Amino acid sequence: METILYYFTGTGNSLAAAKEIAAALGDCDIVPIASLMDTPGDVVPAAERVGIVCPVYFAGLPAMVATFAERLDLTGAKYVFSVVTFGGSGDAPALRQLHAILTTKSGRGLDAGFGVKMPGNYVLMYEPPTGTKREKMLADAKGAFVRITDTIRKGGRQDLPSSFILQALHSLMYPRFIAGVHDKDRNFSVTDACTSCGTCAAVCPAGNIELIDKRPVWKHRCELCCACIHLCPVQAIQAGRGTAKRQRYRNPDTSIADLKNQRERKA
Ligand SMILES: Cc1cc2nc3c(=O)[nH]c(=O)nc-3n(C[C@H](O)[C@H](O)[C@H](O)COP(=O)(O)O)c2cc1C
Repeated sequence: METILYYFTGTGNSLAAAKEIAAALGDCDIVPIASLMDTPGDVVPAAERVGIVCPVYFAGLPAMVATFAERLDLTGAKYVFSVVTFGGSGDAPALRQLHAILTTKSGRGLDAGFGVKMPGNYVLMYEPPTGTKREKMLADAKGAFVRITDTIRKGGRQDLPSSFILQALHSLMYPRFIAGVHDKDRNFSVTDACTSCGTCAAVCPAGNIELIDKRPVWKHRCELCCACIHLCPVQAIQAGRGTAKRQRYRNPDTSIADLKNQRERKA
């Protein structure tokens, strides 16, 4: 295997990115980070080229990705890159956070880091973009994947983006996010529309949902990826009052089946 791509996703943007890049590179294994969370010890990639693809959360990395990066032994890697998907801003501090963790662990960080704007999915705060706005974002992202793959294929170096303001935002918001993220599901609830189909449990990358008496119960290991809210086929999952009136989102290049069972299998 020439390349391994590790990914984390809630609603499919980062998986779609990983799939596009993998298809263009060829000879590439796509591995869900969630599937490695219960394995013991360090993760040593069996490939010389290693990529990490994930969303930006609060101008930083999802908690699970940060934990994974701390276990990733890159001493044998020849080329390391990351692609972070984000809805508005925050790619610079997220990539720099990843670079710092990898450097501490393996004495080498990212050779290249890329941010790709995609539809924002933080439905607790806002409605994901719809219609032509969403279509344009996705089309622009596809163009970005082509350029990114071109750089990766050539082993090109890409300086990490930097932003003083976003870095300050990261320092302000991210520690609070990390401190409380696993408990954020205390705000989640299910309505009588629930059909007990189990999709919420199957798509949760944290294995945080169990069906008890045919209803989802959240176990406070939440990553706040919002997959359960977005992917429920009958929109029965809410988080506070705001989510009831907002549309849901799934990246159109990924299916629910693609997003299920990330903890158990490869993509
Ligand atoms: C908890 C949470 C926090 C987020 N924070 C940010 C952020 O700080 N900046 C940003 O641009 N997008 C933010 N987003 C949007 C996601 O980064 C974006 O929609 C991403 O592409 C989702 O990827 P996925 O579909 O692979 O889960 C956030 C989304 C969630 C769920």
